[in-house]
Amino acid sequence: MRLLLLLFLILHLQICASFARVMSEYQALLSVKSAIDDPQSALASWNSSNSLCSWHGVTCDFTGRHVTSLDLSSLNLSGTLSPDIAHLRYLQNLTLAANQLSGPIPPQLSAISGLLSLNLSNNVFNGSFPPQLAQLKNLQVLDLYNNNMTGDLPLPVTDMPNLRHLHLGGNFFSGKIPPEYGKWEFLEYLAISGNELVGSIPPEIGNLSKLQQLYIGYYNSYEGGLPPEIGNLSELVRFDAANCMLSGEMPKEIGKLQKLDTLFLQVNGSFAELKNLTLLNLFRNKLHGAIPEFIGDLPQLEVLQLWENNFTGSIPLGLGKNGNLVLVDLSSNKLTGNLPPNLCSGNRLQTLITLSNFLFGPIPESLGQCKSLSRIRMGENFLNGSIPKGLFGLPELTQVELQDNLLTGEFPVSDKIALNLGQISLSKQSALRFVASKYWQVLRCSKATS
Ligand SMILES: *[C@@H]1O[C@H](CO)[C@@H](O)[C@H](O)[C@H]1NC(C)=O
Ligand SMILES: *[C@@H]1O[C@H](CO)[C@@H](O)[C@H](O)[C@H]1NC(C)=O
Ligand SMILES: *[C@@H]1O[C@H](CO)[C@@H](O)[C@H](O)[C@H]1NC(C)=O
Ligand SMILES: *[C@@H]1O[C@H](CO)[C@@H](O)[C@H](O)[C@H]1NC(C)=O
Ligand SMILES: *[C@@H]1O[C@H](CO)[C@@H](O)[C@H](O)[C@H]1NC(C)=O
Ligand SMILES: *[C@@H]1O[C@H](CO)[C@@H](O)[C@H](O)[C@H]1NC(C)=O
Ligand SMILES: *[C@@H]1O[C@H](CO)[C@@H](O)[C@H](O)[C@H]1NC(C)=O
Ligand SMILES: *[C@@H]1O[C@H](CO)[C@@H](O)[C@H](O)[C@H]1NC(C)=O
Ligand SMILES: *[C@@H]1O[C@H](CO)[C@@H](O)[C@H](O)[C@H]1NC(C)=O
Ligand SMILES: *[C@@H]1O[C@H](CO)[C@@H](O)[C@H](O)[C@H]1NC(C)=O
Ligand SMILES: *[C@@H]1O[C@H](CO)[C@@H](O)[C@H](O)[C@H]1NC(C)=O
Ligand SMILES: *[C@@H]1O[C@H](CO)[C@@H](O)[C@H](O)[C@H]1NC(C)=O
Repeated sequence: MRLLLLLFLILHLQICASFARVMSEYQALLSVKSAIDDPQSALASWNSSNSLCSWHGVTCDFTGRHVTSLDLSSLNLSGTLSPDIAHLRYLQNLTLAANQLSGPIPPQLSAISGLLSLNLSNNVFNGSFPPQLAQLKNLQVLDLYNNNMTGDLPLPVTDMPNLRHLHLGGNFFSGKIPPEYGKWEFLEYLAISGNELVGSIPPEIGNLSKLQQLYIGYYNSYEGGLPPEIGNLSELVRFDAANCMLSGEMPKEIGKLQKLDTLFLQVNGSFAELKNLTLLNLFRNKLHGAIPEFIGDLPQLEVLQLWENNFTGSIPLGLGKNGNLVLVDLSSNKLTGNLPPNLCSGNRLQTLITLSNFLFGPIPESLGQCKSLSRIRMGENFLNGSIPKGLFGLPELTQVELQDNLLTGEFPVSDKIALNLGQISLSKQSALRFVASKYWQVLRCSKATS
């Protein structure tokens, strides 16, 4: 009996002890507040005179007993995130985005097993990614964009099987992209852009069958090119791999170049499955070879930026015939051949830049009817023929650069000159004749460099 009593006492003491360790949600919130510097008193409502469920940024469950969401975004908060945040055991969404919070991401967050969304973007959290967070098996959204995180691009995130949205961009993560980054079954959004990543892009990325948006460029400097498996991402809508040292393999014999017409993707038509692609940015890399023909056949393509590479061959003839094209920038490559005839078939084209290539042939007459066109920069090519009728009268036009070409014929006569047209550059044409003096007027008033 005495033994039983003793046992009971010990048990009781233990329960009490463990209870003491569990901080109430009320105390947890106050502890979080005490580690935060709040110059605008945004958290003034966090006081005992009202229920914590009515505190700024706090959302409770329907019983009013547990905090399920905490949103303190854009409140100009600084200081650190207290590990006591982990005592909010029922938290599903935590958003501290757009403040000045610093220090480490507390590993204790791993205790909040029901967490669905963690948004710490636009702060100055530093240190490496806490491996303990791999325990957050329900997490769907992890947004760490624009912080001061260092260390290897985290591997533990690949043990969060439910991720839909992962943004690690704009930090100082280094190392290679682990092949495990192809593991997520549901991932729709992956951004690792703007870090210090090196190495080759693992082909496993092509296994992310639900991926819609992929951002890998800027400040990273990879080795080699894009793996052809990227072409398996059939749901991809936006792909931005600009400015990250991507290269195609330089063929040993220059004579082979003409046959290897899809160098930059290696595999014939490997991107042809990207039926929903709207944006393709690969500018400022070291890609070479031809722009594959199927890029002109992508039905949804709106933005194509391939400037500052070494692309050769001609622009895919079908480009623009999808009727969706808005922005094309192919400048500073080694493109030859004619401009495609249907760039503006949907009347959505606003910007057309092919500056500094080896393009020849005429400027397509259809551009003279392209009412959406605002900027056209096609200088430093070998374009010949005459300027399309109506071009200078287009209502949205603000900039025209056609200098350093071989344009001939007459300066096009149209009923009106675009009101917004601020710049026309036409210098160094071999045989362009100006017929109507009022157009001369426009030229002299413009900011043209001649
Ligand atoms: C406590 O919060 C209430 C409600 O927001 C506010 O009106 C009151 O001024 C706060 N009290 C203090 C001492 O900050
Ligand atoms: C944020 O706080 C700083 C002082 O800490 C202040 O100068 C700044 O104006 C505040 N910003 C906003 C958006 O209120
Ligand atoms: C929490 O986040 C999930 C996933 O992002 C979202 O679907 C849900 O609406 C959010 N709930 C609350 C209460 O903010
Ligand atoms: C995170 O919060 C920022 C600022 O409120 C917001 O712009 C961003 O869309 C959020 N991230 C996600 C994945 O919802
Ligand atoms: C994080 O930043 C703080 C202050 O800004 C600094 O004292 C600390 O050393 C940094 N930690 C790491 C791991 O860089
Ligand atoms: C964040 O990192 C940048 C670059 O290393 C550094 O200049 C800045 O001081 C850091 N900010 C904080 C708050 O640690
Ligand atoms: C993922 O991709 C790699 C390389 O592309 C492939 O070998 C592997 O079988 C794929 N894994 C799964 C689970 O599909
Ligand atoms: C992925 O891409 C590779 C190379 O393009 C191809 O051989 C493979 O069959 C593709 N896998 C799937 C599942 O489509
Ligand atoms: C590449 O594609 C072209 C046109 O679609 C086709 O004629 C050719 O046979 C393909 N080559 C290979 C190696 O698949
Ligand atoms: C991609 O396009 C197909 C039809 O072409 C459509 O069924 C599907 O929903 C689209 N996917 C996305 C992510 O828009
Ligand atoms: C293009 O090729 C030339 C000659 O091989 C090379 O010097 C240059 O760096 C390359 N430029 C780019 C952007 O890859
Ligand atoms: C334009 O240049 C091409 C290639 O040099 C040439 O074949 C064509 O005849 C030229 N057209 C005109 C109108 O000069």
